[in-house]
Amino acid sequence: MNYLTLVNKKNLIRDSYFKHLELVDYKDILEEDIKVEKKALEAYLKLKEFLVSKNIYIEIDSSYRTIEEQQTIIDKFTIKYGADYVEKYVAPIRTSEHHTGLAIDLALVVNGNKLIDNEDLMANENIYLEIHKYLKDYGFILRYPKGKEEITGYNYEPWHIRYVGRVPANIMYDNSMCLEEYLTDYNGVLVINKEKNMTSFDVVNKVSKILGIKRIGHTGTLDPLAEGVLVLTIGKATKISELLTSYEKEYVATIKVGVLTDTLDITGNVLKEKKISKEINYKELCNSYEKKYMQEVPIYSAVKVNGKKLYEYARNNINVELPKKEVNIKKIELLDSNNDSFSFKCLVSKGTYIRSLIRDMGLSINEYFTMTSLIRTKQGDFSIDDAYTIKDIDDNKFKTLSIDEALSYPIIELDETNYKQVSNGVMIGNSYNITDKVIFKYNNRIIAIYEKKDKYLKSFRNFT
Ligand code: DAL
Ligand code: ZN
Repeated sequence: MNYLTLVNKKNLIRDSYFKHLELVDYKDILEEDIKVEKKALEAYLKLKEFLVSKNIYIEIDSSYRTIEEQQTIIDKFTIKYGADYVEKYVAPIRTSEHHTGLAIDLALVVNGNKLIDNEDLMANENIYLEIHKYLKDYGFILRYPKGKEEITGYNYEPWHIRYVGRVPANIMYDNSMCLEEYLTDYNGVLVINKEKNMTSFDVVNKVSKILGIKRIGHTGTLDPLAEGVLVLTIGKATKISELLTSYEKEYVATIKVGVLTDTLDITGNVLKEKKISKEINYKELCNSYEKKYMQEVPIYSAVKVNGKKLYEYARNNINVELPKKEVNIKKIELLDSNNDSFSFKCLVSKGTYIRSLIRDMGLSINEYFTMTSLIRTKQGDFSIDDAYTIKDIDDNKFKTLSIDEALSYPIIELDETNYKQVSNGVMIGNSYNITDKVIFKYNNRIIAIYEKKDKYLKSFRNFT
């Protein structure tokens, strides 16, 4: 079930939506039988109960509507208020959110009187204003707010609320976004602390489900065995994924001595085993690896050779020459050591495989080393201390970084003239003396990232 389903004048309800829709029976303010989507009703009942503590009494005037029921309302309202009114307040069939079961028109009970007519409800706007403050806590948004009429296509309706789930509701409230804006404009960089046994893709899927946003990417993959910093890009921020991947990374790794596996970590098949024959000076060994060297890419990796991923060669037992890449082990420090295990912390260049580094360290002293755990503690400036678990996201205890916060390029606010050029991607002179890249903003919105090219600046990414 997608709680962020968009139904408006341009997006008609799809038949496939109903396959996942679970409706529950309820009674409206006049004790007539109605239906509401299951989770939306649960959330409504909690909201209703909470509002009693504020001496506010709500009931449901209308929720789920069939196509026929929507037509009946259109006809009734056209007679009562006229076609102009209907255009601003009632959706044509198939474009009404009420078909989703997630929309609820709240009626009020004031001094024991049941109010259902739009005029009476509008006259009690102050009560609605109080209700609106708490909607997000129960996963609802005010669907047709003041000031967004051009976008939503409807006049302000203080009574029409829509269930979207707590996390999206809070984001929309905090950013004064309506649903249309959230689904197209919400973007940012989210630093996750990945737990063990999840793939990077699992993390993306989970976050995507909680936020109700499909366009999410990750920058730099972490294997299921690895934990720690996994930087996600949301919405338009997916355009800067490449820039976030290129940073140096810091890891803490633990190593088992005496075995070598095919995947170079403990999840793999053991290829070789050997008791440690001599005392190893781990500190010295670590120090000797603080250098640049040519590292062989592991066969169990997604790196492509002749259009095929290396692990596909491995799976099909096809021989392949493994590519080598220069890596830079900028810092490496022994943390702990025992008879047959040790751990280190290291700061490495982009593209360094820690399990390969570990294998290489072992082979250089005629021993077999295998990685048993790995924690990414930093990716560029993103630290594990500022990273959020999936539970934090679910509990709405997180903050995203804006695109310009996540990057450390100079920011320049454009004026009217160069705004037009930059938003159209036109090459401009480098009067700003930019040495690498620059972020251009207009009215505090990010427009583009430009990069230096000879004497000019050319468009690198466009966000308009
Ligand atoms: N009142 C809203 C727009 C509807 O009819 O769905
Ligand atoms: Zn409504």
